[in-house]
Amino acid sequence: MRAFEARNAHFDTLVNTPDLRWLGQNTNHAKAHPAVIEAIVRCARDEEFHVYAPPAGFEALRAGIVADFGLEGQAALVSDGAIASLYHVCHALLGPGDELVTTDPTWNWPMAFARSVGAGVRQVPIYGPEYGYRLDPARLADAMRPNTKVVYLVDPNNPLGTACTADEIAEIVEIVRRSGAYLIHDCTYRHFAHEHHLAAKLEPERTVTIYSFSKWLGLAGLRVGAVIAHPDMVERLAGAPPNNLGSSLLAQRAAMAGLAIKDEWFPAVLADQRGNQALIKAAADRIPGLVMPVYPSNGNFIVLECDALGLRPEALVAAYAEHRIMIRQGAYHTPTFGDRFVKVSVSVPRAWVEEFVDLLPAMIERARGMNADVKLF
Ligand SMILES: Cc1ncc(COP(=O)(O)O)c(C=O)c1O
Repeated sequence: MRAFEARNAHFDTLVNTPDLRWLGQNTNHAKAHPAVIEAIVRCARDEEFHVYAPPAGFEALRAGIVADFGLEGQAALVSDGAIASLYHVCHALLGPGDELVTTDPTWNWPMAFARSVGAGVRQVPIYGPEYGYRLDPARLADAMRPNTKVVYLVDPNNPLGTACTADEIAEIVEIVRRSGAYLIHDCTYRHFAHEHHLAAKLEPERTVTIYSFSKWLGLAGLRVGAVIAHPDMVERLAGAPPNNLGSSLLAQRAAMAGLAIKDEWFPAVLADQRGNQALIKAAADRIPGLVMPVYPSNGNFIVLECDALGLRPEALVAAYAEHRIMIRQGAYHTPTFGDRFVKVSVSVPRAWVEEFVDLLPAMIERARGMNADVKLF
């Protein structure tokens, strides 16, 4: 079996497992607002899907995305999820011999996109107390080279949950501006942050901002996101987009309905996931050696360090999998630091987190006894 088939079969099994508790992919399992369901049902019932959506996205959705981030003057290009925007922007801005600079850990797919067009990748380690689990702009400056074309900043960082301060963003923007590179500011998790600062406000021309509906609105399976950038940049990106026949009409209807109910619906979702973080923090504090290095997290997920317990993250993941609970091994994000931690997503029902927490001592014992090599993705 080829690698992609093994990976796909793994996810196919997960998606087809009834009652799986999804604590591994930062998806949002909060009950959807009735208006969002109604938009989806109406689109299906009226068979609106026979036509293509507008190539750059519904005008109302494009305006709603720009307004949600307060980036007036910028333009949005709707895509099949944030990942499609990242793919498109990496292909547009990078070529053979160029370099993409990002953190370690980061979100890996843009590195794969960069490499696929012949660009190199340079990572600045940020994992560990010595770095405060965050990117010191001075270390970014050291990593810049004459051929650095793109800085890819996941902020809030997935998996760490740290977010850049206003001063850090200002410095990062200055470094990017000086070098003539572009900043891809991946703000997929912005809505969960305690405080968040948009680089595009300081540097609207060289910043490309990435937006997702998968996390805050919980539409991961519908595939809708966007890139927000200077209108000239969007003009360039709109010249050869992967989805020139429009992104899913049904997903866009759901996203527009979501933006309309956001202020009423999202605060409770946010409070719930923060409450879930607190439950896990309390449970971790009761187990000597188990550490939650970033708390509170600015994402809808947290990191648990299990290396001091002598545990392999993969073993802990496999132990929970026996209980139909999916958490993520650190190696998914980083080969360098991946043996130190697991990631747990918390925008999920309280009962799932309670189950996770109640099982924690037993799962640690179970993982200690597990030496079998499990294939994880
Ligand atoms: C940092 C980051 N960017 C982008 C994505 C992809 O988002 P979407 O589902 O909108 O494609 C993810 C998904 O986990 C992510 O973690």
